[in-house]
Amino acid sequence: MNIAVIGSGLIGQAWAIVFARGGHAVRMWDGDPAAVGKALTLIAGQVADLQQAGLIDAPEALLGRIQGCQTLEEAMAGAAYVQENLPEKLEIKKEIFARMDKIAPPGTVLASSTSSIPASAFTAELPGRFRCLIAHPVNPPYLVPVVEICGAPWTDPHVVQEAWDVMESVGQKPVKILRELEGFILNRLQGALLREAFKLVEQGYVDAEGLDVTVREGLGLRWSFMGPFETIDLNAPDGLADYAHRFGAMYTSIAKEQTSTEPWSEALIAKLEAQRRRVLPTDQLLARRAWRDRRLMGLAAHKKAADNEAK
Ligand SMILES: NC(=O)c1ccc[n+]([C@@H]2O[C@H](COP(=O)([O-])OP(=O)(O)OC[C@H]3O[C@@H](n4cnc5c(N)ncnc54)[C@H](O)[C@@H]3O)[C@@H](O)[C@H]2O)c1
Repeated sequence: MNIAVIGSGLIGQAWAIVFARGGHAVRMWDGDPAAVGKALTLIAGQVADLQQAGLIDAPEALLGRIQGCQTLEEAMAGAAYVQENLPEKLEIKKEIFARMDKIAPPGTVLASSTSSIPASAFTAELPGRFRCLIAHPVNPPYLVPVVEICGAPWTDPHVVQEAWDVMESVGQKPVKILRELEGFILNRLQGALLREAFKLVEQGYVDAEGLDVTVREGLGLRWSFMGPFETIDLNAPDGLADYAHRFGAMYTSIAKEQTSTEPWSEALIAKLEAQRRRVLPTDQLLARRAWRDRRLMGLAAHKKAADNEAK
């Protein structure tokens, strides 16, 4: 299949790797003429890391399937599926979807990587709005497979299915969002946890590192292979309902204190920033991101081996 990747920043680069790894021909375009060349160089580096981690073979063939383009029209020529990755601004999404809808024949699926904006906010006026939807990845999608598929009320169910099939065909794990909402599911869950984390630090119950250890060495260990519902299903002798009856009152009581909608204050942000910078100075952020990706590669390799064993 021919796939167009629109925008060659962080997420566009990562999608190009995912689709090319899945055997598709990828054409990539960016509004900044210098960006695509830079992206191809960065992609080559990421692909080399993936090979080193044993997560791909044939890196040359993978890279050979990714082509940089000078115009949007060139990138979209013959594409059956388009993945848009421009900045998270409503006006930009509106403009690019209007352009893409004019260029692409009706059979082409137009998907956006947006982290939070529902498709109805930028496709309402388009003649081809029935083939527009969200396919929201997690960074970097070649290591973190979940992708949230969310149509607008007018998105054709067949288009939703097509996007789902494309994602499955390249080894991603699609999740269907049944009704549009800001932030979809993943960022709402992340937002709920962050909100409570900020509050617990603000009120002096724990510091940033203590909070991080609680997730890293506690909740997060299970979350790398099971979700919160499966977690509680296994945490009471008779399963989920048993858990809900044992601990429901405790969570209701806690929830009464979890109603704040205040923005994070500048003072609190500064306090957390200072605590983080003591653990990780600013000039080490980049190296730590590379460390994170190596850890994710190790985890991805472990999960792949464990899944194969379980088959
Ligand atoms: N970074 C993440 O962790 C992440 C995760 C999931 C989804 N997303 C979503 O993916 C999308 C892209 O995010 P990113 O992190 O790759 O951003 P980015 O800033 O790395 O890349 C954006 C690219 O768009 C290009 N661009 C900017 N304005 C343009 C325009 N008007 N026309 C054409 N090209 C233009 C830039 O040159 C740049 O290469 C956003 O919607 C974001 O919410 C990001």
